[in-house]
Amino acid sequence: MTMFTLKRALLTAARIKQCRFFSASQNNWNNRKGLVLGVYEKEGETDSFDLTTAARSLDDAVSGKLSELLKISGPALKKGKNRIFYGLHEDFPCVAVVGLGKNNAGVCGSENWDTGKENIRAALSAGCRLLQDLEVSHVEVEACGDAQAAAEGAVLGLFQYDLLKTKKKTKVTTQLHGSDDVAGWEKGILYGEGQNLARLLMEGPANLITPTAFADTIEEKLAPYSERVTVHKRYVQSWIVEQQMGAFLSVSKGSEEPPVFLELHYNGSPDKTQAPLLLVGKGITFDSGGISLKPPSGMDAMRADMGGAATVCAALVTAVALKLPINIIGLAPLCENMPSGKASKPGDVVTAKNGKTIQVDNTDAEGRLVLADALCYAHTFSPRAIVNAATLTGAMDVALGSAATGVFSNSDWLWERLHQASVVTGDRVWRMPLFQHYTRQVTDSQLADLNNVGSSRSGGACTAAAFLREFVTAPHWAHLDIAGVMGNKDEVPYLRKGMSGRPTRTLVEFAARLAQEA
Ligand code: BES
Ligand code: ZN
Ligand code: ZN
Repeated sequence: MTMFTLKRALLTAARIKQCRFFSASQNNWNNRKGLVLGVYEKEGETDSFDLTTAARSLDDAVSGKLSELLKISGPALKKGKNRIFYGLHEDFPCVAVVGLGKNNAGVCGSENWDTGKENIRAALSAGCRLLQDLEVSHVEVEACGDAQAAAEGAVLGLFQYDLLKTKKKTKVTTQLHGSDDVAGWEKGILYGEGQNLARLLMEGPANLITPTAFADTIEEKLAPYSERVTVHKRYVQSWIVEQQMGAFLSVSKGSEEPPVFLELHYNGSPDKTQAPLLLVGKGITFDSGGISLKPPSGMDAMRADMGGAATVCAALVTAVALKLPINIIGLAPLCENMPSGKASKPGDVVTAKNGKTIQVDNTDAEGRLVLADALCYAHTFSPRAIVNAATLTGAMDVALGSAATGVFSNSDWLWERLHQASVVTGDRVWRMPLFQHYTRQVTDSQLADLNNVGSSRSGGACTAAAFLREFVTAPHWAHLDIAGVMGNKDEVPYLRKGMSGRPTRTLVEFAARLAQEA
């Protein structure tokens, strides 16, 4: 009799003795524990596999039963494929085994990401979701050699926006299995939760996630860290007027919902005088297009037009939770873009904080207006660098789709750091041009210094970036157009369908790396 069969026999005896207890607990699916393990594809062999260290130790504990089952239950698990085994181990009634692809995949030069980390995220996300769908409420997850990527995969994979549904997904708690890299695991949990916070805000309907509700949510998230973070919620219209933010005001005035200018100060650096990193996010909680009304099809997605604000605020919350030794200021101009008797009309001229006049020929190009004022305000803090994120143009989606965030930057130094961070997170960025060619198209205005739309329809993401540049004097600025990565259908395998929260983890990783440079 093997150890395993002996244990099972003892367990059966115990079950008979405690019959009432066991029948109750067996029926209670929600108390079941699961385990997610990985397998690699064997180098050079098509139909064979290599177990990870954790999978091997479980295999040893069950006398080779795991590898035996893997062999007889179908073809060797390819990357992203999975299988579930029941009753394999007494501690884990359900074991999900997931394909990790090739071992030591590493950074791929052409893909611009770390394939090994991406494989781990995808595999563990799939394993956790499989167990969640089986209503397993506690899942142990193996690190697969990278506890941070494993935690990110688990946390991102399990997220589902079901707040407003009667029937909810099983709440799953996760735990690291068979590794002592607790620090890596906890870091991954915070990175994943950061992105999930952005997803929560982006997915939420616009009648619930108003500018005020958005600011309240972020304030609540930061409340436990009040000794290191200050939250200014500028509810009052008079503050915006006082600041001479005429462009922001012109967008907000079409709505009944009051605008909010959210300003977050995180003092994480031991050097109190360290110049801050400025993160600025477009916060249009609903973009109807205004008087230049959008067509109805797909307009609901414009509830996520505050994705820039959501990702930068979530990145700041995560930086605080990670206690990054850096000073960061987060700015989010929050308002709705609505048509009404008070709304801006095509041809109106408004004045931004820096005194530049803008002819608003298309009220649907509102993101650049709210950002223009926020960027001017960002300069008042003598920043080390300014990074803004915005779901700015449909043209960005046409250009790159959801493969990468488009980055327009006046600084090679800043671009390189954002790029390096994105290779690690797998939430990629791709550099886009800031040619004078595009600037000429937005400075061509009949009535004002600038026009809020380019004179040509071509290169829409580039003309929008050229417009923003007119409000930047800082030497290190980057504009991230995140319109293409706003939602996920099935392109990112470790995210369920819905608003993506991208590129929160890249912003966090960028800040973490910058903190090390101080
Ligand atoms: N919020 C939109 C851009 C957008 C489109 C984001 C699709 C995510 C998905 C933005 O305010 C907008 O409407 N831009 C216009 C600009 C145009 C009028 C110059 C666009 O892209 O069509
Ligand atoms: Zn718009
Ligand atoms: Zn918009």
